Amino acid sequence: MIKASAPGKLILCGEHAVVYHRPAIALPIADVRAYVHATAGPGGSGLRFDAPDLGRSWTLDEAPDDPISQVATATLGHIGIATLDLTIAIRSDIPIASGMGSGAAIATAIVRTLAEVAGRELPAATVSALVYQSEKRYHGTPSGIDNTVVAYEQPIWFQRRGTSEQPEPPLIEPIRIATPFTLLIGDTGVRSATRMPVGEVRRRWQADPAGYDAHFDQIGGLVVAARTALELGDYAALGLLLNQNHTVLRAIGVSSPELDQLVQAALDAGALGAKLSGAGWGGVMIALVENAGSTCVREALIRAGAVRVLASHVEQTGDQAADRL
Ligand code: PMV
Repeated sequence: MIKASAPGKLILCGEHAVVYHRPAIALPIADVRAYVHATAGPGGSGLRFDAPDLGRSWTLDEAPDDPISQVATATLGHIGIATLDLTIAIRSDIPIASGMGSGAAIATAIVRTLAEVAGRELPAATVSALVYQSEKRYHGTPSGIDNTVVAYEQPIWFQRRGTSEQPEPPLIEPIRIATPFTLLIGDTGVRSATRMPVGEVRRRWQADPAGYDAHFDQIGGLVVAARTALELGDYAALGLLLNQNHTVLRAIGVSSPELDQLVQAALDAGALGAKLSGAGWGGVMIALVENAGSTCVREALIRAGAVRVLASHVEQTGDQAADRL
């Protein structure tokens, strides 16, 4: 049996504006993951996928256009193998359609598994590029931040370069985290497909380019300041920046009553800052907490309607080095 996994992710700040070439910061969530187990199937069976969490089971031949089938086909093509007889079991602890990168994590784990079955080790950049193709099917116009942070599995600074007509490789840099910190992740329980709010923001930007570019510029400025705060370990400043980012995300129309309620509850309970994370209209919000206050904020989130609260401890680990990027 061959096993692989990939982490969930959070966007700390900069979502939506990142689609429009402003920078954003994303973090992997190492202990909330998608897992793939591959076992040999009968000769001639081809690829079979079993995803009980998604309530689905299918073969590559039955559903060649499925995004998971497509990432598998693209990976086999990349490693130069026509077909494999394998049963691929998919399990994920990452809530789907919630802004935590479930689709990118499953796709990444599949790429890693197929590469390992073929005895190949693919660099993170290749894994990320293969997953980006499947993200396009889920999301329409993804910035590429999800597949990047999941494949590299370290805190990143991400900025698209070039134009839509002439895209250039994005700028991807490791972020230095001076002091470990804790984020609580409050799940509204409202599932929201990324492409819906992303499509609505595009329509609004097309209707009011100057207004929306000003919002995106403001978010870009907050992201620059957030990087400095992370590098200095200044979490009071980071908290205020997250609050300001949430205010702009509300202004561009991607928050929801449930997200606003959780953000307010976290702040009232003493969080240093809070904002929605990901595409919005549902999914999760994040709250920056001091360890001492984290129980209080967690309880407040549950009282305010969070269906679950996860904790992510963010720190610089030994392998978060620039040379991995
Ligand atoms: O997949 P989500 O919900 O985390 O959203 C991704 C972040 C967006 O900036 C809204 C879209 C993108 O492609 O960057």
